[in-house]
Amino acid sequence: MNRAAPEPKANMGKPAPRVEGRAKVTGEALYGSDFAVRNPAFAFLITSAIAKGRIAQMDLSDAKAVPGVLEIFTHENTNGLQEVPWSKGGLGATSSWQNLGPEIGCDGQIIGMVVADTYEAAREAAYLVKVGYEAEKPSATFDSPGAKVEDENETEQRSKELPQAGNADAAIASADVIFDAEYGTPTQHHNPIELFTTTCEWKDGELTVYEPSQFVYGVKNTVAKKLDISPDKVHAISPFVGGAFGSKGQFSPRTGFVAYAAKKLNRPVKLIATRDQGFTIQTYRAETRHHIRMGAQRDGKIVGFTHEGWEITSRPDPYSVAGVEDSARLYNYGTVKTRVTLVHADRNTPGFMRSPPVVPYIYALESAMDELATKLNMDPIELRRVNDSMMDATGKQWSSRSLMKCYDQAAEAFGWSQRNPKPASMRDGDWLVGFGCASAMYPTHVGAAAARVRLLATGEARVQIAAHEIGTGIQTVVAQMAAERLGLPLSKVTVETGDSAFPPSPVAGGSNQTASCCNVVMKACDAIREKLTHAAITSNESPLAGKSASQIRFTEGRAVSQDGNEEQLADLFKRLGVGALEEYAEFLPPGATPDAMKQLYGGKPYLGGGSKGEKLMYALGAEFVEVRVNALTREIRVPRIVGAFAAGHIMNTRTARSQYMGAMIWGISSALHEATEIDERNARYVNDNLADYLVPVNADVQQLEVILVPEEDNFVNPAGIKGIGELANVGTAAAVANAVCHATGVRVRQLPIRLEKLLV
Ligand code: MOS
Repeated sequence: MNRAAPEPKANMGKPAPRVEGRAKVTGEALYGSDFAVRNPAFAFLITSAIAKGRIAQMDLSDAKAVPGVLEIFTHENTNGLQEVPWSKGGLGATSSWQNLGPEIGCDGQIIGMVVADTYEAAREAAYLVKVGYEAEKPSATFDSPGAKVEDENETEQRSKELPQAGNADAAIASADVIFDAEYGTPTQHHNPIELFTTTCEWKDGELTVYEPSQFVYGVKNTVAKKLDISPDKVHAISPFVGGAFGSKGQFSPRTGFVAYAAKKLNRPVKLIATRDQGFTIQTYRAETRHHIRMGAQRDGKIVGFTHEGWEITSRPDPYSVAGVEDSARLYNYGTVKTRVTLVHADRNTPGFMRSPPVVPYIYALESAMDELATKLNMDPIELRRVNDSMMDATGKQWSSRSLMKCYDQAAEAFGWSQRNPKPASMRDGDWLVGFGCASAMYPTHVGAAAARVRLLATGEARVQIAAHEIGTGIQTVVAQMAAERLGLPLSKVTVETGDSAFPPSPVAGGSNQTASCCNVVMKACDAIREKLTHAAITSNESPLAGKSASQIRFTEGRAVSQDGNEEQLADLFKRLGVGALEEYAEFLPPGATPDAMKQLYGGKPYLGGGSKGEKLMYALGAEFVEVRVNALTREIRVPRIVGAFAAGHIMNTRTARSQYMGAMIWGISSALHEATEIDERNARYVNDNLADYLVPVNADVQQLEVILVPEEDNFVNPAGIKGIGELANVGTAAAVANAVCHATGVRVRQLPIRLEKLLV
């Protein structure tokens, strides 16, 4: 055991090294654009230079003259492509760039695609395409002229589905202490290291799509819809993904364009979009605004909470994250009023980005909690303790809740008791020192999933499930689950994922994947175990004859009874007269409709849990940050961060720590670095490259500690697993903001916190 491989505590799995680790570091692991296809042609996208208006004409003559150009696809020669409409929580990413124009809905919209013998020729030709536009003045963001606040009745309709309890306005008005503030978060782009790529190959009327994806069944079914062919004719392959964070979960029309081009040219076509194109051809995290009001008693008990949010979206698609669903549940406020309003601008449609609802909304809430604590002259941890409850204001119970355990363990490890509560009171030479803390929360989702498990008489097992290795270690945790249930060493289990030929798992989003996959694999393994057990206890020749099934365990390739009798797997298989047992299993979480499995096969995942079920199901955590702000330059550093997290059964302490660690770093990034800058005149992203879009590097991350807090919760699902991938980057930005305020006395309510905001 070492720091990277924490000792498992109660109810935690071993820190097995990643089963795919070797393939990744040796370069053997194939990512979407690595697959070799026969004689590929190369595509380069043409994107719009205006954000709003219409293509008047396109002059392709210079572009076509570039040697090696095979075809240029535009709105004029791509008839027959269908629309994959955007849907709420659905898998079509956008309505804006379905048909390459001529209408333009956002800057950087895909308006054409050059295909050539070489990448260089395609790129050169794309730059030579002359586009004449009828441009209109675009609206970029909040407060831009022409940005349209959605109709009041749409906001009202949404409010009806959001948490509301009692009369929060009245409770706040008559409270001892009233707090009222506004917060804002910027546009952010995922920027996974692996770019957005698509390779399409047709053979005998069947299409194979190689594409980094968080949902291969989504790719399969939506590309079929786009091309108006049967999904049976489409095979989607995505074994490894080089970062996604939500950006590769929804269907991109580019896949349809590449598939269409490959068919027309009767040749495989490979597209690798550029980094800057990734800013407009995919989704992003939209900017948000928040108005929070709270009323509290002198002792800190909150009696009323209102949280109003505003979010930017595109003109056509009402995408919202509406994280008041979560902020209104984190504490029991007594009364709650929430509301979320969308503002439509001339932008590409936003979409999932790591912890979509909670990152902005919990930043606002947890900043407000810190401000309220200051106002009450209370320790911020104690304010959370006073409002900690197993029930929320709407009367819903938590399935399990270890928030204060997380606070206590993290506070201890961090040395919170060293904090002088007075702002701007701690100093080390030229550095102002601040301590801050905040809560992390993420809804526990679990989805319908299917899997196939085969156990051989030799004691080797193979699991097939169309799950997605997006960096989370899914193959490892699924292998651990199979090894544990079948009583095999981990090295004897092979897990195959990322292929629509395997049984479907849900979109690898909403942190559901480990829970969904492990539950269904457990079910399949248990069915195999049952058959083997039955063979043993019902045969007179078996040393296990006559034992009851519940007495039999499987371990190290043997079935063992409580009194120590045992039989080798090979002998059990001989008894059955077969060389292998295979089970196909389907898992439906509570709340799933009977047709959820059919829907999943058709490319629509069902995810249950969070606040939607009978009980509140969430993973929780607490993060503590030390910041140092230079007294002269106002440079901001984060020398230390400690996070403690509780998320039910942890399958693997190594991969769990890795997830938490990466997420906390992203949280620091969200607090101090990341923002997509928008040129408001043109509704255009300005810093659309990794030089100008700031992300943290090693020098920005110093001491980082992850504490795994044991928690048992078998209500959430049979395996007791809560998702963790999107937990630890929630609340971090507030913890940093709170620490900055403690260091300097300056409260920054608009992310990111940069030194110019501290020059006051
Ligand atoms: Mo994640 S943003 O739910 O793909």
